[in-house]
Amino acid sequence: MSVEITAVPVPADLLDVGDHPFVQMATVFNQAVMFDIGLDHLRWEPAEMLPDWHDESYRMHRGFLARDDSGRPVGALQLVAPCEDGATEIEFDVAVLPDARDGHIERQLLERLEHEARALGRSALQTYSIHRIDTDHQRLPSPSGFGSVPIDHHTRLFLDAGFTLAQVERNSRLDMTESHEGVRAMLDEAIRFAGPDYRIVTFSPPTPPLLRESFAFVLSRMSTDVPAGGLTITEETWDAERVDVRDARIAAAGLTVSVAAVEHLPSGRIVAYNDLGIGADRSRPTSQWGTLVVRGHRGHRLGTIVKCANILRWRELVPESPFISTFNAEENRPMLDVNERIGFTPLTVAGAWERRL
Ligand SMILES: CC(C)(COP(=O)(O)OP(=O)(O)OC[C@H]1O[C@@H](n2cnc3c(N)ncnc32)[C@H](O)[C@@H]1OP(=O)(O)O)[C@@H](O)C(=O)NCCC(=O)NCCS
Repeated sequence: MSVEITAVPVPADLLDVGDHPFVQMATVFNQAVMFDIGLDHLRWEPAEMLPDWHDESYRMHRGFLARDDSGRPVGALQLVAPCEDGATEIEFDVAVLPDARDGHIERQLLERLEHEARALGRSALQTYSIHRIDTDHQRLPSPSGFGSVPIDHHTRLFLDAGFTLAQVERNSRLDMTESHEGVRAMLDEAIRFAGPDYRIVTFSPPTPPLLRESFAFVLSRMSTDVPAGGLTITEETWDAERVDVRDARIAAAGLTVSVAAVEHLPSGRIVAYNDLGIGADRSRPTSQWGTLVVRGHRGHRLGTIVKCANILRWRELVPESPFISTFNAEENRPMLDVNERIGFTPLTVAGAWERRL
């Protein structure tokens, strides 16, 4: 099948835009993912994406649609690249509708990706594939030795296109409709274990001014401290101003976010955090964003504290949301230990892929 690939314009807003290519791009992704995993918790919401696309201070976004002869959108490509000096990576998502998957459209979209990456001076092409956990395909093991992905349509596509499996992530869910007495007990025990130097601080954006600078530091560590497997990751630069920009984007996207952090009382700095987010439809699943404890403060159960404190706060704030979805590298035992103890169970599996130009 031959297709025409065109750049997706970014609308100023989504009022009266009708079937805009920006919305069509999200629809292609949503239909493809629904077919692949039979679940819609990873659904893209155009209104929630738009503020990120408008502000290119820290990350640039590009979108492309592949249309067949009749003009029907059958494939989509999204590119996201960090703007830090010297960054070489470009992350992408590629999707083709189930009834148009003959391999050709995927390949044409990957050719377009390569063209755009070269034009932007990027040499590390990265993506994530998402898979069901209950398939009977043969498996490709993670280079970390932890986890594997099924050798299905997506795995073959990326292997054939010269990508290497860089890491395997477990996507897990925590049922939010059940009692959380166990989470409360874990939190109480962890607070006792951590001792009097640490205090829980919770907030929803905007970030309190006194905390912005140390919150910026913990956010920046997500790019350096999370196990990255074989992925090329540029260290992100964060300051109080970038926290403000992030808070403004969260507000413009209509998201509800909760942060549970730990303040180290002797220094007055945030040394651990966890944040959860959801869009305007609060009956949807919740996304777990980041969890991090600053090196030097690990092993005091601060990871357990921020995670449990935020789950309990979320239950009060957004009781309609049925579950929390999180992604963790299969080799990230400290994080998986905490999550498994809380009650997270596997939902889908993701493969991280990289190809160097
Ligand atoms: C994951 C992380 C938040 C855990 O923080 P923490 O404060 O050390 O967590 P806890 O003290 O609550 O430890 C939880 C459990 O992890 C396990 N654990 C901690 N450090 C470990 C290590 N180095 N190796 C193996 N297991 C470890 C222990 O079983 C511990 O249980 P314990 O309380 O019985 O000792 C922290 O390691 C971190 O910030 N890592 C980098 C960022 C990251 O990977 N975030 C998750 C992204 S998905």
